[in-house]
Amino acid sequence: MDIVLSGIRSTGNLHLGNYYGALRNFTRMQHENKCFFFIADYHSMTTHPDPKQLHGNVKNVLTEYLAAGIDPELSTIYVQSDVPEVCELYLLLNMHAYMGELAKTVSFKEKARKQPENVNAGLLTYPTLMAADILIHNADKVPVGKDQEQHLEMTRKFARRFNNLYGLEYFKEPVAYNFGQELIKIPGLDGSGKMGKSEGNCIYLGEDPKSIEKKVKRALTDEGPKEFNSEKPDYIENLFTILKVVSAEEVVKHYEELWNKCEIRYGDLKKQLAEDIIKVTSPIRERILDIQGDDAYLHKVTSEGAEKARESASKTVREVREIMGITKF
Ligand code: TYM
Repeated sequence: MDIVLSGIRSTGNLHLGNYYGALRNFTRMQHENKCFFFIADYHSMTTHPDPKQLHGNVKNVLTEYLAAGIDPELSTIYVQSDVPEVCELYLLLNMHAYMGELAKTVSFKEKARKQPENVNAGLLTYPTLMAADILIHNADKVPVGKDQEQHLEMTRKFARRFNNLYGLEYFKEPVAYNFGQELIKIPGLDGSGKMGKSEGNCIYLGEDPKSIEKKVKRALTDEGPKEFNSEKPDYIENLFTILKVVSAEEVVKHYEELWNKCEIRYGDLKKQLAEDIIKVTSPIRERILDIQGDDAYLHKVTSEGAEKARESASKTVREVREIMGITKF
């Protein structure tokens, strides 16, 4: 049985991008593998969240994870900061992570550009913390969206480097869960790149259907194709990309054909798209409303999750310490 690890930062509510990037096929995923799902609250601290809000954010992500279908009977769900072993592995891995390679990471360069007043060491070493999350359970597979591809590649590099340095095959080299295919990138509805919390272009799993309809209606379109079989501009391609994940194959085919024949009516496309997004999100939204505020349940899930996660994590840290020569008197 493969070990799967999935992580989401506690910086806001879960959106369609998170759902299709990190939780995709989660029913099968949970039945076929030993799964760990965690909430990356340490990672969220690189942007200095308000201490009064941090716990609430963690609670939201936890609620939404559960509402999306993560089953604590099948999988281990935990909060990153409940597993302090991660910090020790992070520290040890940092000894073999180099300034040059960390500073070259796309996400670091982007963040440094966006928040020049706060280019902290946590941002620089973000990929080592992520590698520690993954390697602490010696995961085989990590479900991630396209934006995390480089971080996963760095995790493999750190694992390989560790193995080479100490002359053993200790860490596995984790691959993306859907290895072999392109990783998913759910675009935003604003015609820009990816759907993301900081981009403010998200459709949230817990979003009200009316609000979803409004957002889809507002998506950028134009006066329609002028030539048969023409290439779609990015903002139209984006709508089709979302359609492909939420709608049935024949629905996508139908709209592709209309596009190719220059008969597409964006109003219809948007109506269909909103309807199909709502079909996916509605049951999740209902479960969010059910779970929300059930603090006793959330406490039970996270304390049992932390215990299971620490079992696996402490074994790894014990072995890594030994390999690196840290011995007790
Ligand atoms: P985060 O919180 O930004 O996103 C969580 C997961 O959702 C995916 N995702 C997307 N996938 C497709 N299209 C999108 N528009 C989209 N937006 C987000 C992300 O790829 C990710 O899989 N660094 C991570 C959190 C993390 C982690 C880990 C993940 C920390 N440690 C260990 C996996 C393993 C992050 O910021 O994800």
